[in-house]
Amino acid sequence: MRLSEAKTDYYRRKAREEGYKSRAAYKLLEAVKKYRLIKQGDRVVDMGAAPGGWLQVASEAVGQHGRVVGVDLSEIRLNLDNVQTLMMDIYDKTTLEKVRVLLDRPADVLLSDLSPKISGAWDLDHYKQIDLVLRSFELADDILRKGGNCMMKLFDGERFLEARKEAERRYATVVVMKPKASRGESSEMYLVCLGKRT
Ligand SMILES: C[S@@+](CC[C@H](N)C(=O)[O-])C[C@H]1O[C@@H](n2cnc3c(N)ncnc32)[C@H](O)[C@@H]1O
Repeated sequence: MRLSEAKTDYYRRKAREEGYKSRAAYKLLEAVKKYRLIKQGDRVVDMGAAPGGWLQVASEAVGQHGRVVGVDLSEIRLNLDNVQTLMMDIYDKTTLEKVRVLLDRPADVLLSDLSPKISGAWDLDHYKQIDLVLRSFELADDILRKGGNCMMKLFDGERFLEARKEAERRYATVVVMKPKASRGESSEMYLVCLGKRT
């Protein structure tokens, strides 16, 4: 077994043992610990949330006085008091209205682990994935409070700088993060964006 496969296997097993829906949970946990991305009582919106590993981590991080709303094309089966989910497309114009109904105030944090269906044609997958990132920034413009934070998955490639520029225009601090739980050879990375400017 290659080292990167062993690592993926390790996090998959750990997720099963610790009751997380996906090994992706450890990527968010790392960002929460390192950057204090989410705080107790926060309102969090998670775009591309199925099967729900990030929702579980966010639920713990916001605690009983916080709220988390997850959006995905797929159904999410999760029963947590402070989490609600919507089966919707993030390109649907009514998605934000529906999210707003579930939140009692602007969000403090927006998460996006969105990934298109992988075709294997790398350039095309990268192109579509960056479109999802740019859409997530637009949604964050509308739903996130001033000073709020976000974390976005990115597939590395020629549009990486375009996405990072959008992040830097909007947030005071932008950090590129390669979580330990990401596969070594994977081109995925995350932008952790702190302090929305307006
Ligand atoms: C890598 S998974 C997310 C894993 C999740 N963070 C977790 O911890 O379980 C990416 C998700 O993005 C969703 N997705 C892709 N395009 C979408 C769209 N246009 N609207 C909503 N969800 C979308 C997919 O359905 C998929 O479930």
